[in-house]
Amino acid sequence: MDNTVVEWISYSSILIAILTTIIISILSFKSKSGRINLPPGNLGLPIIGETLEFYRAQKRNRVFEDFFGNRIQKYGSVFKTGLMGSPTVVFTGAAGNRFLLHHEFKLVMSSWPECTVNLIGKGSIMEKHGAEHKRLRGAVMACLRADVLQSFVGKLSSVIEDHFERHWKGNDVVLVYPLTKLLTFTSVCSLFLGFEGEDEIKYLLNLFEKVLLGVFAFPIDLPWSRYRRARWARCKIDEFLLTLIKRRRRDLAEGRASAEQDLFSRLLTLNDEDGNTLRDKEVMDNVVLFMFAAHDTSSYAIAMMCKFLREHNDCYEQILAEHKQILKSKEPGEKLNWEDVKNMTYTWRAAQETMRLLPPIFGSFRKAIVDFEYEGYTIPKGWKVLWTASTHYDADCFQEPQKFKPSRFEDSIPPYVFVPFGGGVRMCAGLELAKLQITVFIHHLVTQYDWSLVDPSEGITMDPLPTPTKGMPVRLTKKNT
Ligand code: HEM
Repeated sequence: MDNTVVEWISYSSILIAILTTIIISILSFKSKSGRINLPPGNLGLPIIGETLEFYRAQKRNRVFEDFFGNRIQKYGSVFKTGLMGSPTVVFTGAAGNRFLLHHEFKLVMSSWPECTVNLIGKGSIMEKHGAEHKRLRGAVMACLRADVLQSFVGKLSSVIEDHFERHWKGNDVVLVYPLTKLLTFTSVCSLFLGFEGEDEIKYLLNLFEKVLLGVFAFPIDLPWSRYRRARWARCKIDEFLLTLIKRRRRDLAEGRASAEQDLFSRLLTLNDEDGNTLRDKEVMDNVVLFMFAAHDTSSYAIAMMCKFLREHNDCYEQILAEHKQILKSKEPGEKLNWEDVKNMTYTWRAAQETMRLLPPIFGSFRKAIVDFEYEGYTIPKGWKVLWTASTHYDADCFQEPQKFKPSRFEDSIPPYVFVPFGGGVRMCAGLELAKLQITVFIHHLVTQYDWSLVDPSEGITMDPLPTPTKGMPVRLTKKNT
């Protein structure tokens, strides 16, 4: 059984203690809900709701088919359920996505489980709203805009070459997923924080993995719990980051670092209209969030793309031709540049198709900040709402949705149908960086290696993010280039 489910069960005695309070709120809610038109659906058991069913579907990586899909058929595109202790309304379809993503701060606000907030930190951008969110997002976008990232292409290319040299070369079999995690983490340490020591990176990545396991765990701080181990790891990360902060503040003061050199400097020098800068804790919370956002998602997208390319040789051949063409235009040893990345059009389509079929993030929670109406239903204030990428599997949005077909991205896709990066004011700030990480990696992979899947039937599970169950072992052959 999934660890998270075991935790749920072992904490049942604690749940019973709070049940009384909940029953009272349910009774008072029921008398209110008798008067309003709630969306159809089933809230499930008190507290637990339909969480176990949701976890079971996640564990099989069939949340769209077995959880959302079944309910869409039964209740329509908007329905209620009970997830992780909260009554929740799930919005599906492009219209539902547009509605939720466009009413951020007006009708809804991002809302994360208690564990996530405690572990990532209240100072991070995910917990900022309105003007504060805008200011922080401005600083982040100043480092992640396409024109700023242009200068990073050569550097990223070197980081990837070095990674292949150390971790792929000379091996018959490698585990793709842990390696793509190490690589994307290494590249964001370099881009965001300006440090590259492999031992320090591995130490930090190990701590991030521990925090990740606690992010969606049950928020009980007992010695054996995932949450306790995650809190310990977060303290260790803070110790590490605090040393970097002190060093960078000194370098900024003494002119050895500039305010624009990377995300770290920008966060440390960000001012509000009254001249206040972010506190150390806020800087750490944001660095932690960006590191998570930037490596766990891209690493999964890259690993899944390797899988699809092996399963669809015609797509692999087209990608190979694209990258051979790029190599042809270069002098021996010449680094990739921004123009080269712009020419990787088919590669990016294949990456988009990968994220359509296997989105690294299936959707995201919000909370209603007022009572509001949608399609004749009332969504009560305080309820959770969830936008989803279920459009990706909808035959009305994508013909033959189960097929891997990168060419479908030659045509423009209507807004809010393809949403691996979300939308609205909270749309992924790292889209351009993700694009770089994926395309440049694929360039080095296809031009240097052939690979085959050791276990073509390997499954994907969620723990807590989608993960190939065996780490995706592949057999490698080095090409003679
Ligand atoms: C394939 C890779 C990626 C995927 C699929 C992805 C997906 C997403 C999604 C769906 C959201 C919106 C969440 C919501 O609506 O609550 C988001 C937000 C965000 N992403 Fe990404 N992401 C990726 C890579 C990155 C990278 C490389 C960064 C670099 C820092 C990044 C930084 C962020 C940030 C900072 C936010 C929060 C934006 C805000 O609240 O204003 N992401 N991402």
